[in-house]
Amino acid sequence: MTKRVLLIIGGGIAAYKSLFLIRVLARRGIKSTVILTNGGSEFVTALSAGGLSGEKVYTDLFDLTAEAEMGHIELSRSADLVVVAPATADLMAKAAHGIANDLATTTLSATDKRTLYVPAMNVRMWENPATQRNVTTLSDDGAFFLGPDEGEMACGEFGEGRMAEPEAIADAIETILEGDTTLDGLKGPKPLLGKKALVTAGPTREAIDPVRYLSNHSSGKQGYAIAAALTRLGADVTLISGPTALDPPACAKFVRVESARDMLAACETALPAEIFVAVAAVADWRPDGCANKKIKKGTSGIPALKLVENPDILATLSAAKSRPELVIGFAAETHDVVEFAKAKRDKKNCDWIVANDVSGDVMGGDHNAMIVVTADGEDIFPRLKKEDAARRLAEKIATHFA
Ligand code: C5P
Repeated sequence: MTKRVLLIIGGGIAAYKSLFLIRVLARRGIKSTVILTNGGSEFVTALSAGGLSGEKVYTDLFDLTAEAEMGHIELSRSADLVVVAPATADLMAKAAHGIANDLATTTLSATDKRTLYVPAMNVRMWENPATQRNVTTLSDDGAFFLGPDEGEMACGEFGEGRMAEPEAIADAIETILEGDTTLDGLKGPKPLLGKKALVTAGPTREAIDPVRYLSNHSSGKQGYAIAAALTRLGADVTLISGPTALDPPACAKFVRVESARDMLAACETALPAEIFVAVAAVADWRPDGCANKKIKKGTSGIPALKLVENPDILATLSAAKSRPELVIGFAAETHDVVEFAKAKRDKKNCDWIVANDVSGDVMGGDHNAMIVVTADGEDIFPRLKKEDAARRLAEKIATHFA
């Protein structure tokens, strides 16, 4: 499901950064519905915000057309998260006291969703005891806060008051949307900054004729989660995915392909990269030729399906001149998992093989129990949600490069 934030742009010079935020979120597959306060519209225009979000921008509570299209109550419920950026001292004061006298504040008081405040103001205003009391009140009521950062401000003073940068706000939004209510995930450094990673995910489809194909049960969840986890650690990730029902995750580049041969070509185009994680359940075989018309039933009995071997993407990239420094394969097995994984690591010339037992609910499910087989031995992860397993693998990758 595509995620959506309701972005309230308050009146501050940092409002221009919120326009960048709309773009950063869109790149990560998160849509924005924008409310521009009267103050906000002194700094940026509804036209710019709407141009970037691709949607109507809401500006005034008493705009009857807007109320008829989507009232403030509905607006307050339609997003997964409400984000106030820049959150001015005035907006926070009103929200902390339940004052609701314009579209932004009525929406804040009517919403049943969590709210992330991204404050931006002069350092004295931020340090003002009234502002700090309001922040404490909102925080006690369950709101999230990001920043303000310390630095030089537009007013010429130095101190705490700068609005967080759009990428950091987008990280916070993703972290909250993933259910991390502590925002702990944001605090870590970006150890994979400057590293390019290539991840394959999902199944491939091998055409029999224009309407039929061979494929498998891979959902793509694990590969998408790994692409997102590597991105969160700063890597520049290209995710090459076979057909899945998932929305693209947060990553720099997303390429959708059908067949194993398409996937290999897309991988070769995406090289060079320092990291390659082959999570895709690539079909081992494909029909020897695809009929150009639908094969009709009953004309010449049951057709025989002659199969030919698909290219092994993992083995090909492992042997490539521009071989990524760290090549990680997956070994989905139903028995003797580690033994097969070790053999596969040698055969395919990978650095690591992630062994997993797919005899249970791994394929298509939400959990995974990984065993990472490296030259030094085995690292056994417990059964975890695929997102958490991905985070752990990404951290192991970061440690490798540290
Ligand atoms: O040989 P097997 O399919 O078990 O190997 C699994 C690993 O190899 C996975 O990492 C998978 O992404 C990769 N693979 C590949 N191309 C293939 C077959 C598997 O990249 N044609």
